[in-house]
Formats: sequence, C-alpha cells, structure tokens
Amino acid sequence: MSDTAITAATAQIMMMLRHPQDRPVVRSFFDPATFTASHVVHDPATRQAAVIDSVLDYDPASGRTNYASAQQIVDYVREQKLHVAWQLETHAHADHLSAAPWLQEQLGGQLAIGADIVRVQEVFGKIFNAGTEFARDGSQFNHLFRDGEGFKLGNLDCIALHVPGHTPADMAFVIGDAAFIGDTLFMPDYGTARADFPGGDARMLYRSIRRLLTLPVQTRLFLCHDYKAPGRDTFAWETTVGAEREHNIHVHDGVEEDAFVSMRTTRDASLSLPNLIMPSVQVNIRGGHMPEPEDNGVSYIKIPVNRL
Ligand SMILES: [Fe+2]
Repeated sequence: MSDTAITAATAQIMMMLRHPQDRPVVRSFFDPATFTASHVVHDPATRQAAVIDSVLDYDPASGRTNYASAQQIVDYVREQKLHVAWQLETHAHADHLSAAPWLQEQLGGQLAIGADIVRVQEVFGKIFNAGTEFARDGSQFNHLFRDGEGFKLGNLDCIALHVPGHTPADMAFVIGDAAFIGDTLFMPDYGTARADFPGGDARMLYRSIRRLLTLPVQTRLFLCHDYKAPGRDTFAWETTVGAEREHNIHVHDGVEEDAFVSMRTTRDASLSLPNLIMPSVQVNIRGGHMPEPEDNGVSYIKIPVNRL
C-alpha cells in the first residue's frame, strides 16, 4: 500500500538535505521536573517559528502554576527576533501541563494538535465526569491536523503525520529535515513510549514507529522526553532515523511486531502512572486551559478514586 504522506515527507527531507543552509534551526529546552523537552524551531530565512510541546510548571502539593519554564521560551524568541506562527502539541500529555495558552498570549501563533484529540476528549471527559460545558469537538484548539496534511513555516515545507499508539491522537511534525515525534520513540538507548494509557495501543505504536523509521536515515528526530538510560549521565533529546533503526533497544531493525507488543505490554504493566497525570490530562484536553472556575471563581482539578 503506498503511503503518500511518507512519500511527500521523504521528498521534502531529501530536498532539504541538498540545501543545508535552509535547514530549520532548533533550540530545545529541557524541564528536569517532568523530563520534558520543548522545542522552538524556526526558518532561518523568514524567522517564522513554531513552539512544540511547551511546559507550564505546576506544584501538585500547592496546586500552584508558574511560568518559569515557559518564560525561557519567551526570552529566547524575543532575543532571536522570531515570529511565532504555531504553538504545536504532539499530543495531550499525561505528565506535564501545556503552557500553550500563555505562550500564545505572549508570542502569538495558532494552537494546533491532531484531529483525533476528540477521541481523547471523549475518553477522559467520561473518566473525569466533565459536564456539558466541556466541548469534546477539539474547539479549544485553533487547528486540528490530519495525517499527511501539509503546512508552511515561513519558506519551509512541513507535513503532519498521525502516529497513534501512545495515545490515539499523537502527531509527528516533519519540518524541513527535522521531525518532532512526541512520545513514540525515545533515545535509542532508552527505547519507546508507553502505550497503556486509556486509548493507547502497543500494536498501533509499533506500526507508527516503523512508519516513521521509513523516513530518510539522515532525518533529525526531536523527542518529547528523556529519562537518561543506565550508564548515560546527560539528558539527550535529538537523534536520527538511522541511529534509531540501528540501535533502538525496543524497535531496531529486525524486531518483529509481536515481539515488540509483548515486550511493551510487559514493561507497561510494571510502570506506575506519571505524578502529574490528573492535572495534566484535565488541563491538556482543554488546550492547556484550567477547568471552568466554580461559582467562587476558583478552578479545581478532580481526582477519580479507584478509576485509573
Ligand atoms: Fe506523552
């Protein structure tokens, strides 16, 4: 079966590799509290930029948020004189809150996520017993991307790819020769993302990953997380398709689907839920907004007892 989205992304990456001076510039920001890498990518010719997977700092004990991590992005964008066109989310994160609405106020840009966010909103809307005021139609976002959809960042060609598995709605954004792949692959020595959240599927994750790994071997891959692998002392969030195909401990070339699914399922059964899953999911399915304030003007995060 021909995969027109991958064919188009491959052509785009090959073209970019022939014009290295036009390649997008990427600056990453790592949040050690949630092990999240946020990225600012820009077109050097036009200075149009996209912010990908930003972090809103949140203290679960006090319920207080702050903008220290997001402020670093604001400072960088202003110092580099970039114009933010997009605030992109690879998926509704379960381990950190998104700062996209605040960054949008500070810097502008269209807030976008994958179109299947509506499925994630449906699932978690039920789990958190959200009322009818919680729209499950993706309307909290400015744009919903479909698989294979092209878009521009300045002069750069970009393609959105649907890569479900970790959640039903995960997207990868191929911008020039750089792919921002969210929670699919991690660094080769760490492996892959979990697939056991509601709506996750290890088999689907394998297929999405193998699809990404058909991109040219030189494709730069930017990840959403790193946890350091045993024996590695520094955090890392950039690799290549070639390095993943050769060395990824879970899905290097030669690992079959059934073997991956059984490894992933066994490993997921041993993992505890992320510390911030309750606030993260409730905020991120609302496009990074807190739940509607109650009649005293305060927003509350719910915890479903014995449900997750
Ligand atoms: Fe995630």
